[in-house]
Amino acid sequence: MEPMGALQSYRNLRQFQQDPATFLNGQTNDFSEAFVGPRRFYVCRDPDLANYFLKENPANYPHNRFVYKQIEPITGREGLVQLTGEKWKRYRSLTNKLFHSDRFSSYAPIIEHCVAELIKRWIDSPPLFLNDEILILVLRISGLIFLHRDLTIEAPEVVRAFLELNRLCGLRLRSVTAPPLWVPTPMNQRIKAAREVLRNFVASSQGGPLPTLLRGDKSVGDQISTFLFAGHETTATSVLWTLALLAQNPRYQKEEFIASSYQEALRLFPPAWILARDVLEEEEVRGHLIKAGSSLIIDVRAIHRHPRFWLKPDLFRPERFLSGEVASRAFIPFGGGPKVCSGKGLASLEANIILEKLIQAFSFSPTPNTSLAVEEMITAHPKHELQLKVEKRC
Ligand code: HEM
Repeated sequence: MEPMGALQSYRNLRQFQQDPATFLNGQTNDFSEAFVGPRRFYVCRDPDLANYFLKENPANYPHNRFVYKQIEPITGREGLVQLTGEKWKRYRSLTNKLFHSDRFSSYAPIIEHCVAELIKRWIDSPPLFLNDEILILVLRISGLIFLHRDLTIEAPEVVRAFLELNRLCGLRLRSVTAPPLWVPTPMNQRIKAAREVLRNFVASSQGGPLPTLLRGDKSVGDQISTFLFAGHETTATSVLWTLALLAQNPRYQKEEFIASSYQEALRLFPPAWILARDVLEEEEVRGHLIKAGSSLIIDVRAIHRHPRFWLKPDLFRPERFLSGEVASRAFIPFGGGPKVCSGKGLASLEANIILEKLIQAFSFSPTPNTSLAVEEMITAHPKHELQLKVEKRC
């Protein structure tokens, strides 16, 4: 690398560590190359190229090993997200049974029951802060669906442990040069403590549909952890963003706009804000030479606000999802191709029921402290506690 190139790659590394969103925003072209420290990255903001990588030639663009290594404290080594090849196929097809549409008729009453309890509590005492309320609600739903276990008591501690891992693994991921987990740095000690909370919880969760599907399998613990994390954090966050956006745009607080408002929140604030892939073999794709051994970041957030594909991309306009003006290839909150989110149907079912019931029972309005700032962890999370005025409808 040239000396100037080395200096720029060091600057990129500093910026990536301090503020990955600003680093990505600096890559203004639809497809750009940047060195972050010693690593060559491609940043893709073009929906057609993204679809090529995810759907047309996924075999050449598997999950990024470096990124997925960093989330092992959450998913273990054998959680579905970590797997590739034949092993992945086997576990994907096994666990897909949990997402068959005939199961959904038993999931809806579980979701309704948990939201009804929440609403009853909120009527007596409206919440000041919403993050924990919604995270705990969705984890409880996941516990009842996957483990047939009511996590009312355990949920706050488990939510905290997942959040701590989400944040710390996100920081490790950025640092690129973080020491391995066995080195007893203060950060690694905190990761281990949170992982211990999860391990104890998982060890005590041996009943219900998910463990039953995998009975006797040594990956069962990793799958429980993966499904609970993937299942609750992203869904809860997307519900929080939707409520915040609806509070700022009260005319959409109507039943007919629930589904489109939810989609619009997923577009503006996709919880899976980037998708990270490795490049196995060099190839030229639509005029871009993509080198083997490099990393590819699909910038989902930029694709979701790409001015060539979205009219007034920064505005909350749920009606765009009703009018047919949406270019579906530029909307990829659940990824795409063979590794597309297993739980996307469940996520939408949960979010739509939760939002519908909440909007029927309450009106939401912003407070001076309402903030839509994002913290980039492994997933994109509200940076501050969401504060809204929650008032019972007459
Ligand atoms: C709004 C909510 C959700 C969003 C935005 C979301 C997003 C995603 C994305 C983008 C991926 C693919 C990651 C990649 O290709 O690198 C993924 C994978 C996955 N998601 Fe979700 N997800 C959500 C809800 C759920 C729910 C409710 C579950 C249920 C357990 C779930 C389970 C999974 C699993 C198991 C995978 C791995 C699939 C595989 O590797 O074969 N997700 N999710």
